[in-house]
Amino acid sequence: MKRIAVLTSGGDCSGMNATVRAVVRAGLASGAEVFGIQKGYQGLIDRLYESLTTRSVSNVLQRGGTFLQSARCKEMRTESGLRLACENLKGLGVEGLIAIGGDGTLNGAHAIAQQGISVIGIPASIDNDIPFTDMSLGVDTALNNIITAVDNLKDTASSHDRAFVVETMGRGCGYLAVVATIAAGAEYSLIPEEPYDLDDICTDLRRRYQEGRSNSIIMVAEGAGKAQDIADQIKDRIGFETRVVVLGHYQRGGSPSVYDRLLGARFGQAAVENLLKGKDGKMVGVQGAKIVLTDLEKVISSGSRPINPMFPKLANQLSV
Ligand code: F6P
Repeated sequence: MKRIAVLTSGGDCSGMNATVRAVVRAGLASGAEVFGIQKGYQGLIDRLYESLTTRSVSNVLQRGGTFLQSARCKEMRTESGLRLACENLKGLGVEGLIAIGGDGTLNGAHAIAQQGISVIGIPASIDNDIPFTDMSLGVDTALNNIITAVDNLKDTASSHDRAFVVETMGRGCGYLAVVATIAAGAEYSLIPEEPYDLDDICTDLRRRYQEGRSNSIIMVAEGAGKAQDIADQIKDRIGFETRVVVLGHYQRGGSPSVYDRLLGARFGQAAVENLLKGKDGKMVGVQGAKIVLTDLEKVISSGSRPINPMFPKLANQLSV
């Protein structure tokens, strides 16, 4: 019987369980045995794995996080860690590995592929910074979490004439902040991809205030600055009452959206199908309506996925 393995690694996100479920069920349907590796690459090094059945993935689809658990594994970046991970995979007798995670995970997947082991990567990170896919798993659910929070904050902001500075995750990528600005109707979005001038923002805030619009939401991507610093500077410069909300890991959890469940199902199935067809060293992604494969080598050497300039433009235009 063919044997494949699956792991989730790096920062968790919603939709990972839906993807593992798809891998297991599509694998079993194709006559393969599927091993689940716990705690990402760390579990591969420490040999934490078990054979998964259809029932192992019952009732996980609707849950956020990852039932396989995840880890950021420094050891995997060392020669000895990589060697151990590859030896253990070979010892397990698998045809190939499906690695679900963000850029660190895909770098690990590429390193394993270079050792002659078949690997397919699945992009999963709320940051949406992975190139060659329009969307990564978890992004849509994170955005839904953010807009729920901003909708609630707008109620209290308008009740008190306050400006709220809301910090999103995203590492060096402003996708979450700028898209949430459009979707939640926030007034400003500060993202690392676009220079901003706090003096201009303060002047504009004052103008809005004079026009009778006395509450505002300022979205800040974590890569563009600290929400508390920005709030303090606004208060110092124009004396506005500000409050700060750092959304943090709240954004990563929760039941996956329909989009993420469907993306997980499609990614998982495509990864299994291609791995069993003998394709390897690739990442599955979605471009338009299509599932596409890109060489892991190309993915990891292309830097972060750039933000479509249409988003900052739209955010600015709609927040006048
Ligand atoms: O990459 C996903 C992410 O949530 C980033 O947005 C954030 O900077 C980072 O992970 C947080 O990492 P950790 O969960 O290790 O604190």
